[in-house]
Amino acid sequence: MKEKRQIQIAPSILSADFGRLAEEVRAVEGAGADVIHVDVMDGHFVPNITIGPLVVRAVRAATGLPVDCHLMIEQPERYIEEFKKAGADWISVHYETCPHIHRTLCAIRDLGARAGLVLNPGTPVSAVKDVVRAADYCLIMSVNPGFGGQSFIEFSLEKIKELKVLISSLGLNIPIEVDGGINRDTIKEVARAGAEIFVAGSAIFEKGDYKEEIDTLRALAQAG
Ligand code: DX5
Ligand code: ZN
Repeated sequence: MKEKRQIQIAPSILSADFGRLAEEVRAVEGAGADVIHVDVMDGHFVPNITIGPLVVRAVRAATGLPVDCHLMIEQPERYIEEFKKAGADWISVHYETCPHIHRTLCAIRDLGARAGLVLNPGTPVSAVKDVVRAADYCLIMSVNPGFGGQSFIEFSLEKIKELKVLISSLGLNIPIEVDGGINRDTIKEVARAGAEIFVAGSAIFEKGDYKEEIDTLRALAQAG
C-alpha cells in the first residue's frame, strides 16, 4: 500500500497582480490553497528585488493560511525577527546564504516560526546531512532562484529522492517542499520523488480559474 501523504499547494504571490494583492491572496485561499508562499529577494543573492516585511504584513492581514516566507537575501539572520513580527509562520533560508546555518535555523524556531532549509540547484543534498535535523521543512529549488516562470530542472528529481532517503535514514519526518517550474506537466513526477509541499506561481496565477488549477495540481500530486 502507498504511504499516505499530506499534499500542500502553496501559490507563490510572485506571479500575482500586486495592484490587487489582498484580493489575489483571498482568491487563492478561497480556491483551496494550503499555504501562501512569499518570495523575498534582495537584488544581491538573486538578481531580482521583490518585497519586504511591509508586504508580508498586508498578506498576513488578508489570509488565515500559513504565510511561508522564502528569504532569497544575503545575511537573512538580520531580518528573520522582522518577518516573524510581520506575520510569517514559516521562514526559510538558503544554505548558500548562511555560514552558520544551524544557528539561523535555531533562531527561526526560537522566534516561534517553522524553520525551512533551502538548497539551490547547485548545492548537493550531502551538504545538509548534519543540519537537516534543525529544519521543520526542507525546500529543494528546482530552478535557479530569482524569477517566476522558469523551466523545471530535471535533476531536481534525483535530489528530492536523495533527500527523502537522508531524512528517513535519520528517522526524521521533515516534509520536502519544491519550488520552481511546478505545473501540470511536472507535479506528478515531483510528488512521486517524495515532495509534499508544492510551490506554484505562474501555473496558478496565469490561469483564469484558480480553483480548477489548484484542484488539478492536487489531484496530479496525489496520483504521483
Ligand atoms: C523563484 C521563486 C519561486 C517562483 C516560482 O525564485 O522562489 O517561488 O515564484 O515560480 P514558478 O512557479 O512560476 O516557477
Ligand atoms: Zn519561492
